Amino acid sequence: MEETRISDSKIEKEEEEANEEAEAEVEIWNYIFGFCNMATVKCAIELGIADAIDNHHQGLMTLSELSSAVGCTDPSYLYRVMRLLVHQKIFKEKATVHGTTGYAHTPLSCRLLRRGDNTNSMADFVLVESSPAMLAPLQCLSNLVRVNTKNNSAFEEIHGVGNQFWKYAVANPGHSKLFTDALSSDARVVIPRIIEMCPEVFDGVKSLVDVGGGNGTTIGLLVKAFPWIKGINFDLPHVASVAPECDGVTHVGGDMFAYVPKVDAVIMKWILHDWNDEECIKILKKCREAIPKDKGKVIILDAVIGQPNEDKFEGVKLMLDIVIMAHTNTGKERTSSEWNSILVKAGFSHYVIKSIHAIYSIIVAFP
Ligand SMILES: C[S@@+](CC[C@H](N)C(=O)[O-])C[C@H]1O[C@@H](n2cnc3c(N)ncnc32)[C@H](O)[C@@H]1O
Repeated sequence: MEETRISDSKIEKEEEEANEEAEAEVEIWNYIFGFCNMATVKCAIELGIADAIDNHHQGLMTLSELSSAVGCTDPSYLYRVMRLLVHQKIFKEKATVHGTTGYAHTPLSCRLLRRGDNTNSMADFVLVESSPAMLAPLQCLSNLVRVNTKNNSAFEEIHGVGNQFWKYAVANPGHSKLFTDALSSDARVVIPRIIEMCPEVFDGVKSLVDVGGGNGTTIGLLVKAFPWIKGINFDLPHVASVAPECDGVTHVGGDMFAYVPKVDAVIMKWILHDWNDEECIKILKKCREAIPKDKGKVIILDAVIGQPNEDKFEGVKLMLDIVIMAHTNTGKERTSSEWNSILVKAGFSHYVIKSIHAIYSIIVAFP
């Protein structure tokens, strides 16, 4: 009779397959109901939960205190929302002095504060990305991927042909304000880090234009840190005309494809990822014409895909790339070799890429 021996490696392989199956069974449910994470975070911001806890004595609130602070008629739904938010480690539970359970902040929930002076708040970003106008185009992704004519956009499929992202903003000032506020919340987090990590980038710069600068938060922060800089916030007229006044900053309305104001240096945060290579080369050439040949520079803040030292943001960058695919007609996130290609074609002699431990890097290009 022949003895059959199951080898150790076969057992290991079967165990590994069983583990993968078990993980997949859980993981697929996370995809099925994953949208609830965004929905409950949005709900928390709209109710003002983070602000209520922040304003409360010792930053600790029981369910009934929280319920009356945010105006719920009955705390039972709020309890269920908080149960998920605590499970996801967005808020945490702590014992109160009376031995009951209260809700308290974590570093993540502090980012849901709506108070304007909270530099870490990303609440407006959550609100804009979870708005029906921004989410609906993502329902058309498969159609877009199948029929990629380079002229169609999922955003137009939802909002009407010709109603591209920036045109929609002109016709919908409320959406436009939420979008610019969202982007400035990111600027308030990252620009101070750039000022601290790479102040040398602004050495010798006496005038700086922020092309596509939105409501002027980025240039405002830079001018405050480097007060010898004369700042220009340059954006489409419907954005520049409603930008709040800021010391040391002039708001100028215009079209970056036609003209960029003459300055020592140009900064562009999250601009080039909205456009294809040909469009980026046009914008970059306008920027190059605007700066002095000997000491000018163009400072680009945009994602660089596939950077080995920035792994923790890689997944976010790849998700952002999908959002850009759905929202813009031609935009994309770029690898370092794709950045090299457009910078060389736009006539820049050299450039450096620096990590700033953020979703985007800083690319400084020289004429
Ligand atoms: C993704 S937002 C970035 C805003 C800002 N730089 C930031 O990151 O906070 C792109 C900006 O480009 C502006 N923009 C779009 N087309 C433009 C054009 N042709 N000329 C000037 N600005 C433009 C938009 O109005 C918008 O403010």
